[in-house]
Amino acid sequence: MSKNKKVETFHISTYGCQMNIADSSTLASSLITRGYRRVKDEKDADLIVLNTCSVREKAENRIYGRLGEIFKYKREKPHMKIAVVGCMAQRLGDELIKKVPHVDFVLGTDRLFELPDALEGIEGTSSVMTAFGHENIDMIAPVKDSDYSGFVTISRGCDNYCTYCIVPYVRGKEVSHSADYIVDAVKKMVDEGVVEATLLGQNVNSYKYEDTDFPKLLTRVAKETGIKRLRFMTSHPKDLSKRLVDVMADDPTIMPHIHLPVQAGNNRVLEKMGRIYTIEHYMKIIEYIKKTLPYVILTTDIIVGYPTETESEYEETLKVVSEVRYDSAFMFRYSVRPGTVAAKFDDDVPEADKIRRLQKLIKLQQGISYEQNQQELNQIRFSLVEGYSKRDKNKMRARTDGNKTVIFEAHGLKNGTIVPIRIKAADAFTLHGEVVEPN
Ligand code: SAH
Ligand code: SF4
Ligand code: F3S
Repeated sequence: MSKNKKVETFHISTYGCQMNIADSSTLASSLITRGYRRVKDEKDADLIVLNTCSVREKAENRIYGRLGEIFKYKREKPHMKIAVVGCMAQRLGDELIKKVPHVDFVLGTDRLFELPDALEGIEGTSSVMTAFGHENIDMIAPVKDSDYSGFVTISRGCDNYCTYCIVPYVRGKEVSHSADYIVDAVKKMVDEGVVEATLLGQNVNSYKYEDTDFPKLLTRVAKETGIKRLRFMTSHPKDLSKRLVDVMADDPTIMPHIHLPVQAGNNRVLEKMGRIYTIEHYMKIIEYIKKTLPYVILTTDIIVGYPTETESEYEETLKVVSEVRYDSAFMFRYSVRPGTVAAKFDDDVPEADKIRRLQKLIKLQQGISYEQNQQELNQIRFSLVEGYSKRDKNKMRARTDGNKTVIFEAHGLKNGTIVPIRIKAADAFTLHGEVVEPN
């Protein structure tokens, strides 16, 4: 096949957080508008895009692995183009092309939207672009992610600089989209059939545009757009206000789920992490949430083995997990990210200890998830149908208001339908139920 054959088809793989999912949807839509055709199988694509994550070393290693595989296709199809975009592209820039020369484009977190121009060699574009361009963020058009759901980024970047975290370096400084832009974006999605929208930011609670703060924004979106279910993430404990919880209690459109990363249970470790709250403050918020929202699903992120974390400090994390009783948690071993403040500290918790601490934590959390899920038994949960169960084609899959997966017997329900489901059984990960007649 000729090297000059034109690029007609594309495939995007997305890694990392919902922010990347949202960016990939926007990128896919702009490629389609320019006449490129999306294909299901990477092997059939003339353009392969990897939208990448840098948050842990493992996430980056996975991309290097993927690039090795993709190189095999490129040898058979010399006209094929490979684009690495997003956080890892932002972090490494030119270095990435030096390391992996068969990559054609490296476009950072604010520049990936220029991929169609770069492909066509439009003036002003080049193959490596990583400059931040936060001036015109309202130019980025949010696009629904499926026929029934959409992610809407409300603020880009992060100013918190938690000492372990690469995100502020790869996403730049925090800038909020205008409230009108967000309301219009959700309205447009609703017109296109979307029933559930998720508002995204690294720290949604620090959202601020003119006199609109996050509780105000949430109220506007819930009241003005006609969206049926509204979610948001992530909340930073230092900024989550009682007003936000009150707004959630007042508006049934806002789903009863709060993702509130605690990261660690010990105040010295939290301070060294740069989290700016104490565990006492965190527990006070949890108490207020539980008091104000009679049904709420709480989830979190936790890091074990942060530099200098002692065994007894780690045990305080276990204590918090037991006290809060999260419905689920994302749990990680600390991973050194070059360029961060913590990268200057000695990564002194031995790998074997990190692994042991993580395993013990996961086991504890799984037991709690199981018990929390048992509390769902016999309850009716309004759930959003998302397709068929992967394991059993006689069953369908839906997500409850609290964001848990529920499997139930059904056929032919349209994705995006909201059905009342009575929960009949549960393990630590999944609920099982049956559709009931609404009262
Ligand atoms: N903005 C969000 C989190 C974004 S990153 C927040 O502040 O909560 C998602 C999660 O990855 C973090 O909450 C943290 O638990 C984890 N993480 C970030 N950097 C990490 C690192 N260097 N090693 C291990 N886990 C990390
Ligand atoms: Fe990273 Fe902290 Fe920002 Fe979250 S708040 S993205 S953990 S720096
Ligand atoms: Fe990863 Fe970037 Fe999100 S580093 S977690 S994809 S903001």
